Amino acid sequence: MTADQQQAKLVLEGLSKQYGNFTALEPTSLTVRNGEFLTLLGPSGSGKTTLLQMVAGLAEPSAGRLLVDGADWTYRPVNERGMGMVFQHYALFPHMTVAENVAFPLQMRKLSAAEVRSRIEETLRKVQLEKFSHRFPKELSGGQQQRVALARCFVFNPNVILMDEPLGALDKALREHMQLEIRRLHKEYATTVIYVTHDQEEALVMSDRICVMNHARVEQLGSPHQIYANPETLFAATFIGHSNVLKGKRDGSDGEFARVRTAGGTFCGRDMSRNQAGEVALVVRPEHMRIGETTSAEFDSVRGRLTDLVYVGVETRLLVALPDDSILTLRHDAAGEIPSIGQEIVTHWPKAAARVVA
Ligand SMILES: Nc1ncnc2c1ncn2[C@@H]1O[C@H](COP(=O)(O)OP(=O)(O)O)[C@@H](O)[C@H]1O
Ligand SMILES: [Mg+2]
Repeated sequence: MTADQQQAKLVLEGLSKQYGNFTALEPTSLTVRNGEFLTLLGPSGSGKTTLLQMVAGLAEPSAGRLLVDGADWTYRPVNERGMGMVFQHYALFPHMTVAENVAFPLQMRKLSAAEVRSRIEETLRKVQLEKFSHRFPKELSGGQQQRVALARCFVFNPNVILMDEPLGALDKALREHMQLEIRRLHKEYATTVIYVTHDQEEALVMSDRICVMNHARVEQLGSPHQIYANPETLFAATFIGHSNVLKGKRDGSDGEFARVRTAGGTFCGRDMSRNQAGEVALVVRPEHMRIGETTSAEFDSVRGRLTDLVYVGVETRLLVALPDDSILTLRHDAAGEIPSIGQEIVTHWPKAAARVVA
């Protein structure tokens, strides 16, 4: 057994889903570690909900297996899985008060009245709703309703919690507040969480690991830092944070680096791609690109023309067009003078900061 399997809570072995001829999820294998916060991140239609529903027992896999604590749960009925679930639409019982909603999963599990009372009290305190226990859902704001849904989920201390875009209906400020709230609840209850979002910032803020999905497949699985610093595919590099992309063809190697021939020149970078595809891209994060010439062999540089300045509060971004019409985004160095639009600009970056992806 590998270390990963020892601390495994859930193991997916080639789990896939077909709807007729349509593949909603390609055969997928991954391990969710005990107690971790794992986020499925990808654009709409990438298969996130499909994967989550097969873990929940709400959809039947077309092939593959799901193991929970080492036991085969592939076809176990949903009501025997005891997993907590929170969805975008809170699905609270409208005719029940907050306290009654939160009590529901405990009563299903036949806990004593005293135990139910003390657990409701504790959980409502943790989501800061203790003063609202006698209200009905319609008397609460969207954010408060979603906190009731979270309380109703955490209250029975499920060993796995599945959340599908639970903050999707909330405005930005509330969403950011709730992200931290869910993170805190996850730490307090030490539960294994699988969380679905299409919002990369949300995934970076909340997750121990991110599973990047696109076109019914897992593109990359790793910590937020691993994925940001070492994306393995062009999709991962551009979906999480901004990447400057220079498309080209492989052109051999130069010591520890792979070389890529692009319209604007031949550049070096660390090879992250998992195949030897000829068509590749060199990706560089904006924070690694500096304005100005350099002759050092540790750097690559390219020449372009400033087409726009974008002020985003914390910084000003420079949009630089290359001869092949691709656009680079640079951060303006606060100390330097802001160049004028139309001006020719040279930018350089360390070869060690560039990644080659396919
Ligand atoms: N019951 C279904 N029947 C047919 N196609 C479906 C069904 N459920 C989902 N799909 C398709 O499977 C793909 C993945 O869907 P989904 O897992 O919901 O994506 P996501 O949650 O990432 O937005 C989509 O193209 C969707 O239209
Ligand atoms: Mg979905």
